[in-house]
Amino acid sequence: MNNVIRYQNAALQYYRDLTGSSHLHYGYWEPIPDDNEELTITKLRAAQDAYAEHLISFLPANIHTVLDVGCGNGDNAIAMIEKGLQVEGLAPDPLQQANFLERTKGKALFHTDTFQEFVLNPQKYSAQTTYDLVLFSESTQYMSPEAIAEGSATLARTGSYVLLADMLRKDANYKEGMFSNCLVNEDLHKAMLKSGFRLIQTNDISDHIAPTLDICVQSFQTFGISTGKYVASLIAIAVPPIYAILRYFLGKLLAKLMAEGLQASNIFHKHLCYEIQLWQKM
Ligand SMILES: C[S@@+](CC[C@H](N)C(=O)[O-])C[C@H]1O[C@@H](n2cnc3c(N)ncnc32)[C@H](O)[C@@H]1O
Repeated sequence: MNNVIRYQNAALQYYRDLTGSSHLHYGYWEPIPDDNEELTITKLRAAQDAYAEHLISFLPANIHTVLDVGCGNGDNAIAMIEKGLQVEGLAPDPLQQANFLERTKGKALFHTDTFQEFVLNPQKYSAQTTYDLVLFSESTQYMSPEAIAEGSATLARTGSYVLLADMLRKDANYKEGMFSNCLVNEDLHKAMLKSGFRLIQTNDISDHIAPTLDICVQSFQTFGISTGKYVASLIAIAVPPIYAILRYFLGKLLAKLMAEGLQASNIFHKHLCYEIQLWQKM
């Protein structure tokens, strides 16, 4: 497993530990909280449960088999299994594999690899070669539009679906910064059309995920910055030369990252959106 994937896996585990929830997505806040409402981790967890419910409401009625690409710890898979669907999970993370298999209780297969590798030879994984629906729940940001579109086309029959939900860049000129790994919506559309898919339903849920950014910024302000300052003071007292070196090399970078982190919500609203899209293979 390459280092980029190992860093991503570590970040996802950190999110899991912070929220105390197995969900690895932004959630769906319904109703959208008022400006003055207190945002809490309990409310975030409720929003995460509501997300799975909202997402699976987009599943077409006539499907039986689903490949859950970037399935995380299995929450969406469990909801789909409960609907009677035959689900296979895919993610390049052995820890998620263990969680997924334990939580789906032998009712779903798990393939430990990237989507890009999987589509080259699905039989290698004792997987089916085509699916009624391929799901990307907050996993598009780890792949190129072409990998998603062309890979999905190889796993689709005429009439099969792709359901995706993720943060997307509505501003193609936003190229640097904390959300720049998100796909440009226009590029994704072009790639999907080129691979023979037609967009049949779309739902912009930007306002329903934004409170998660707000609660992250609040927690970062309250605990992140203060803990960082405290650790810096301890290092400055205990080992002043190391503090001087760290400050010299990392000071400006950390200040930039902190300033950007505090602006997360504004950056999102200005340059991005969060969409659920249902595509069908023609
Ligand atoms: C933000 S999590 C979303 C997890 C889950 N779908 C959910 O909604 O909670 C991103 C998922 O994509 C997976 N992932 C990252 N890169 C991938 C790739 N190249 N192919 C397949 N899955 C990938 C991660 O391991 C993780 O399971």
